[in-house]
Amino acid sequence: MSQPDIYDSSYVRELFEEMSASYRLTNLISSFGFSKIWRDQCVFQAGIQPEATVYELMSGNGDSFSALINKLNAKGEIIAVDFCRRMCEQAKARKDKLAAERVTVLEQDILTNQLPSESADVVISVFGLKTFSDAQKKILAEQIHRILKPGGTFSLLEISMPPNRFLRCLYMFYLRRVIPLIGWIMLGNPNNYRMLGIYTEQFQDCRKTAQIFTVAGLQSKTRLHFFGCATSLVGQKCS
Ligand SMILES: C[S@@+](CC[C@H](N)C(=O)[O-])C[C@H]1O[C@@H](n2cnc3c(N)ncnc32)[C@H](O)[C@@H]1O
Repeated sequence: MSQPDIYDSSYVRELFEEMSASYRLTNLISSFGFSKIWRDQCVFQAGIQPEATVYELMSGNGDSFSALINKLNAKGEIIAVDFCRRMCEQAKARKDKLAAERVTVLEQDILTNQLPSESADVVISVFGLKTFSDAQKKILAEQIHRILKPGGTFSLLEISMPPNRFLRCLYMFYLRRVIPLIGWIMLGNPNNYRMLGIYTEQFQDCRKTAQIFTVAGLQSKTRLHFFGCATSLVGQKCS
């Protein structure tokens, strides 16, 4: 039987549709709370001004909304984009719970999105890079460049392979074996959670993505979080 293309949009969408019910709790427990710390760091380093229009790409169930809302005043706006229907439903429920009127949740594939050009002051994304192939990352970079206003900033963070060999082995064991088990306990499909380890191993860290972004005209710096268990890409559209 032929292997599925794990970067194919329908494959990725189906994966997250299936994981959506168990994702939030599994993510929080399996990361020992680091997922929240990293989300907050990703938002913090984006340099968000109170009146900014912020696009959150691959926004999932809206777990970054609170951190983003805290940075904005009544004129600030959040546009969350994700192509998974169930994740978007949860994000809308989150928006209602937070009574956040200036949050809009859009169900769109970011690679073929309808977002207006030069409309974003800031683009952020947390844990949203690993399911893109290099060719798709190039399209993503071009789209971020198109969407951002000149001088607009971006902050993207992803789970990564730490440079230390010992820590890397331990972390991979955890991603490959322990997280699927936690996913199963949370009533999710362990095979789906196993895929997160496979994507992370392929992704490595944000350095290659930084090169792709530079070619697209986005200047950026990479940063390690907790010894490289996550890395981020922070930068600006210069022209
Ligand atoms: C690992 S989840 C991260 C969710 C959220 N950002 C968080 O902090 O937990 C990745 C999300 O990216 C979305 N996604 C993946 N590829 C996408 C694409 N091409 N367009 C829009 N959303 C996409 C998935 O549906 C999923 O909700």
